[in-house]
Amino acid sequence: MIDGDEALWLRSPGGRFEVRSAPRPTAGPGLVVIRVRAIAVNPVDAIGGPLRRIVTPWLRYPAVLGSDVAGEVVAVGDGVTRLRIGDRVLGYAAGQERIRNSPAEGGFRRYVAVLARVCTAIPDEVTFERAAVLPLALSTAAAGLFEADQLGLPMPAIPVAPREDVVLVWGASTSVGCNAVQLARASGFAVVATAGRRNHEFVRSLGAEAVLDYRDGDVDQRIVEAVGDRRLAGTVAIGSGSLTHALRIARRLPGTKRIASAYPDPITRARSLAARARGLRVSSIWGGTPVRSAVGPAVFRDYLPPALEDGRFRAAPGPVVVGASLGDIPEALARLRAGVSASKLVVTLE
Ligand SMILES: NC(=O)c1ccc[n+]([C@@H]2O[C@H](COP(=O)([O-])OP(=O)(O)OC[C@H]3O[C@@H](n4cnc5c(N)ncnc54)[C@H](OP(=O)(O)O)[C@@H]3O)[C@@H](O)[C@H]2O)c1
Repeated sequence: MIDGDEALWLRSPGGRFEVRSAPRPTAGPGLVVIRVRAIAVNPVDAIGGPLRRIVTPWLRYPAVLGSDVAGEVVAVGDGVTRLRIGDRVLGYAAGQERIRNSPAEGGFRRYVAVLARVCTAIPDEVTFERAAVLPLALSTAAAGLFEADQLGLPMPAIPVAPREDVVLVWGASTSVGCNAVQLARASGFAVVATAGRRNHEFVRSLGAEAVLDYRDGDVDQRIVEAVGDRRLAGTVAIGSGSLTHALRIARRLPGTKRIASAYPDPITRARSLAARARGLRVSSIWGGTPVRSAVGPAVFRDYLPPALEDGRFRAAPGPVVVGASLGDIPEALARLRAGVSASKLVVTLE
């Protein structure tokens, strides 16, 4: 290894990962450089070559993937006043975003440049491996709930302003779902959720008042009963089959009829057009939107630091450490492809 300067490179969309030296990033305007101590992996990192060309067609190669990092700030760019060298932080490494498109900002590396607007100082008692579970899943949940063209709900606040309406989170034991449940509660909504049965208690502990099994034949009916005579403020639909259920449920309940789907694929877009004719609004979430929108700083800068500090927001699901070097990340991606349940796969670095 060249002292401190290396990355896990992807030569082409369908190519192999390779640990190689990399120039140490500098802290440009609005950026901090983080010495990375923990990295979490996400489905977008694990997709195969043909799909990668469709999902991130703009990405230049060789590329450095990875969105979730936690570590220490080692350099601070112009215009960054909130973070200092030595701060322990989590950050959304936005190198795969169209507007950044930079290997210096990809998370699978020892030192990474991260936009301060999507960086959060973490309390001493939150370990790096736990903090690393948050960035992309948090950003995706926040995009679905708060972006104006998604559910457009009010931002989280401390103290919470309680509301009557209900947010449905389908797929609440996913990483995105854990964050959606907690953020919706932080905005004052009641949450009804679905998850596999063994994760019901866990999802309740995040703030959902009712949790149903998405595999049950009568799950739609049970959700309608759990919402009762309240209005649906919107649905975050995560997981295979979630949109079909969400559409049926939204038709049966009073409320906004908005569904934010975690699948930004062409089929979802086609179904959204069909649903619109029936008064339902389906939008496809892009988890990186808060990197450039007002939602990013509202969540990462304003809400999350005090919420982590007083324990009202938990970094969930819990980390499962599966390696201790950049070279272990391909194995972590293979394990993610095989499937996880209410857990986030993390690789730590010395
Ligand atoms: N649009 C975007 O920008 C964006 C960003 C991030 C993720 N995503 C997508 O969002 C989804 C979740 O990602 P993630 O990283 O949060 O996932 P994850 O944590 O890896 O998901 C694992 C969980 O999926 C749940 N699950 C499996 N099948 C399900 C189904 N049919 N319905 C509901 N839940 C189901 C399992 O629940 P149980 O074990 O409880 O059964 C398990 O806990 C993925 O499809 C991912 O591609 C999209």
